[in-house]
Amino acid sequence: MPEPAIAVEGLTKVFAGSGIGRRSAETVAVSDVSFEVDAGAAFAIVGESGSGKTTVARCLAGLETLTNGTIEVCGERLAGTGSSRAERLRRARMIQLVFQDPYQSLDPRQPVGSALAEAISLHRPKGEATEKAVVSLLERVGLSAKIIDSYPRVLSGGQRQRVAIARALAAGPEAIVFDESVSALDVSIQAQVLNLIADLRESDGVTTIFISHDLAVVSQVSDTMIVMRRGEVVEAGATDEILASPSHPYTQRLIASVPHIGWDPEKLLAQ
Ligand SMILES: Nc1ncnc2c1ncn2[C@@H]1O[C@H](COP(=O)(O)OP(=O)(O)O)[C@@H](O)[C@H]1O
Ligand SMILES: [Mg+2]
Repeated sequence: MPEPAIAVEGLTKVFAGSGIGRRSAETVAVSDVSFEVDAGAAFAIVGESGSGKTTVARCLAGLETLTNGTIEVCGERLAGTGSSRAERLRRARMIQLVFQDPYQSLDPRQPVGSALAEAISLHRPKGEATEKAVVSLLERVGLSAKIIDSYPRVLSGGQRQRVAIARALAAGPEAIVFDESVSALDVSIQAQVLNLIADLRESDGVTTIFISHDLAVVSQVSDTMIVMRRGEVVEAGATDEILASPSHPYTQRLIASVPHIGWDPEKLLAQ
């Protein structure tokens, strides 16, 4: 059996309270979450707002320490309680995060080409941050080399998200986590970016973890998924099976609450 690209075991994240008023209590954002994703596979994490999806993403990408549990990337343990800063940095390189808002990873004052060159040299310090490398990254995400000197603000929302994806690819990651990355885009642009992500998986073999509250999107972009509720996994398995016959009442409610789908498995799968 080949090793999974990502193996998460018993992931738990508790945020300490601020000590002021209502926020003084600690928050158990993620509790005992486990899942595995095969190399090159398409995985999704679904759940309503506040269910802990972004916290899982941030733990995967090395932006948070873990309260408990472990994360393995290609069989190498890169996070656990007491994981070192070096492990966290390595995790951050191997698992890249693309946010809903591209400005979370792009500096508005930095031209596109310079942002990509910086990402390349950060993760691949051997002087590979040439213009050729930048142009090749742009091409991989379907953008023209002409935008190399442009600032993010002059680009369209779809173009900006493509630049954010290029920036993630610059690290040469094992996996990319897309946290609601197409939620803010128009439907037609959304479809184009989803196609790009599918192409990258097929051509580069990059493992993709798609986080969304939108089940129509999830049905398009994942083969397996977990459903999260209040920080816990309530359902896990093949996406088409879960969407066609959800076994947990929460998943059933989630599917029923999608206005343009309703709970009609036939219709949902035909999308
Ligand atoms: N930095 C933080 N400090 C305190 N609580 C947090 C922090 N980040 C997230 N939370 C809490 O953790 C829970 C899960 O949040 P989140 O992971 O953002 O969920 P989702 O992405 O599914 O909407 C929420 O109750 C949220 O308020
Ligand atoms: Mg979120």
